[in-house]
Amino acid sequence: MDNTAAIQENATLRLIDQRSSTRRFADGVEVSATQREAVLHAATRAPSAGAMMMYSIIDVREQATRDRLAVLCDNQPMIAQAPWALVFVVDYCKWIDLFEHVGCFDEDYVARTGRQPRRTPGLGEFAIAAQDAVIAAQNAVIAAEAVGLGSCYIGDIVENAEAVRDLLDLPEHTVPLSMLILGVPAKERPATPHPTVNLVMPERYRRADAATLDAQVAEMDAMFRPHAKTAGERVLDIYERKHTSDFMAEMGRSMELWLKNW
Ligand SMILES: Cc1cc2nc3c(=O)[nH]c(=O)nc-3n(C[C@H](O)[C@H](O)[C@H](O)COP(=O)(O)O)c2cc1C
Repeated sequence: MDNTAAIQENATLRLIDQRSSTRRFADGVEVSATQREAVLHAATRAPSAGAMMMYSIIDVREQATRDRLAVLCDNQPMIAQAPWALVFVVDYCKWIDLFEHVGCFDEDYVARTGRQPRRTPGLGEFAIAAQDAVIAAQNAVIAAEAVGLGSCYIGDIVENAEAVRDLLDLPEHTVPLSMLILGVPAKERPATPHPTVNLVMPERYRRADAATLDAQVAEMDAMFRPHAKTAGERVLDIYERKHTSDFMAEMGRSMELWLKNW
């Protein structure tokens, strides 16, 4: 049976298609308790490796905390203007605590089972726990949209590791990988165009040839630099504003500290 029409009209797919990041929030409009619950519940319903829930969600309600985060996250005032923020923390501390709690590190357990005495998490745990955290965040994004809220990721939460760690009391084996700001949008915005050239690769990785790169450049210039005078203005813009930026250098420095904390 051809269900094309049903797919095209599907409410979930429409919601995903029409979402855009919200960077301005309606003044004085709070997020209701029902909206908060729905968003947080949806986050907890995200797939999680082994259902181990290797993340924690820091629910930031205090204005003073958002004010400080606005500065620490590369000076983005919208973080202070948003009525709500959620920090998705990659968290293996809770499992180390659980292992300790049930006696996995006790001498008699080690003697009885022959297991290694104590192992701290490695990059393997980081890989799956990071996915847990980000997938939960994205469930929150979609749920927010469904209950009339807008949201925006703040990648700069991984900057300034020392100050963010102190502000949020983050212990070892945690990394605050994702942050969302949420609230009722000041106004509805159309969906942002997303480039798709050189994205889906049938069966194997296929490194772009010159013709594909030209197509990719043309697609991006048409979307983001519609008045571009020379080809590649969008790529140059990304190179200058992001790839070689001060904030990216700080992100790299800070992320190295977070990984040492892991
Ligand atoms: C990992 C990640 C980090 C982001 N960090 C920021 C940020 O710090 N500030 C910001 O204004 N937008 C941030 N964004 C939002 C993106 O810029 C936005 O998703 C992109 O421009 C596409 O627009 P759309 O979300 O409206 O489709 C981030 C998005 C992601 C996925």
